[in-house]
Amino acid sequence: MAHTEAFGSDVQRAAESLRKGGLVAIPTETVYGLGANATDDDAVLRIFEAKGRPAFDPLIVHIGSLEQLHTVVSSFPEKARLLAQAYWPGPLTFILPKQDSISDLVTSGLPTVGVRMPRHSLTLQLLQSLPFPLAAPSANPFGYISPTTVAHVQAQLGDKLDYILDGGACEVGLESTIVGFENGGVQVLRLGGLSVEEIEAVAGPVSVANSSTSNPTAPGMLSSHYAPGKPLLFGEIDSLLSEHVGKNFQLLVFRDLHGQPGKVLSASGNMNEAARNLFSMLRELDASDCSIILAEKVPNEGLGRAINDRLNRASSRR
Ligand code: TXA
Ligand code: MG
Repeated sequence: MAHTEAFGSDVQRAAESLRKGGLVAIPTETVYGLGANATDDDAVLRIFEAKGRPAFDPLIVHIGSLEQLHTVVSSFPEKARLLAQAYWPGPLTFILPKQDSISDLVTSGLPTVGVRMPRHSLTLQLLQSLPFPLAAPSANPFGYISPTTVAHVQAQLGDKLDYILDGGACEVGLESTIVGFENGGVQVLRLGGLSVEEIEAVAGPVSVANSSTSNPTAPGMLSSHYAPGKPLLFGEIDSLLSEHVGKNFQLLVFRDLHGQPGKVLSASGNMNEAARNLFSMLRELDASDCSIILAEKVPNEGLGRAINDRLNRASSRR
């Protein structure tokens, strides 16, 4: 029943597939998601199968309205309320105590659930037309680079999907920032498309979990994740270049290639543009005929922090 040709901007068709327990790729402002009915265990199982995702890696539940929130979480602290008011719909996921109706499959047996309201008009329409929320991880095979265009989704998961809802290229280009609320504070568990500065402006000082290699509750924090197939080295540009003289490399730099081969994330130094370009450029470099990718560290501010986090994880395998 599934076939790669099945994409378009038909929200009703997407809704029909989802009502029948199907898998539909959905556009969001961050990356494309691989969506299914979060209240249907068979549908949720199909997500894990399609992605090759281990069952210990919980899914984010996507909602289209605040009313729906109460079907997903059992409590909503004041700081979450303030953050939702400021940034939902948007690239921010909350980890909160789950409602009984959310199955252990979605949360990998955890008592908490990840929930967010994505900022994309087609997906909001879709979510508002359905009587259930959607569980959706990023629409890529487990461990690989997240998709920011329909072509990325088709290339890797097209034959496993019932429909791809085409919402164009993702506006932010990095996965959502994930936050938890323990002991009255706010913890950033995964850096992402909403900057730490923006979160602190609303919630006050937050803690940022370091890129753990072993935290079993957040595999998005595993050190080898978001990785291309080719070896990628990450660091300061001068040392990367001096260590690889004469090698068949391509560079991924923030602003300027200095005459070397590769890709520029943002010639004007715009960090949001750099974030938007990151995953597409990584894929292009991965598909090029170089034998190694050398990625420059970008300034550690705004979304630059999340960009460095992803590049660091993409490299840490070697
Ligand atoms: O922007 C995004 O967040 C995208 C779009 C599609 O919404 N989704 C996404 O999902 O990046 P995924 O599954 O690729 O990453 C979700 C991360 C995983 O690393 C998972 O471990 C973590 O969220 N997560 C989900 N539920 C959790 C929970 N209850 N406790 C801790 N971590 C959780
Ligand atoms: Mg992912």
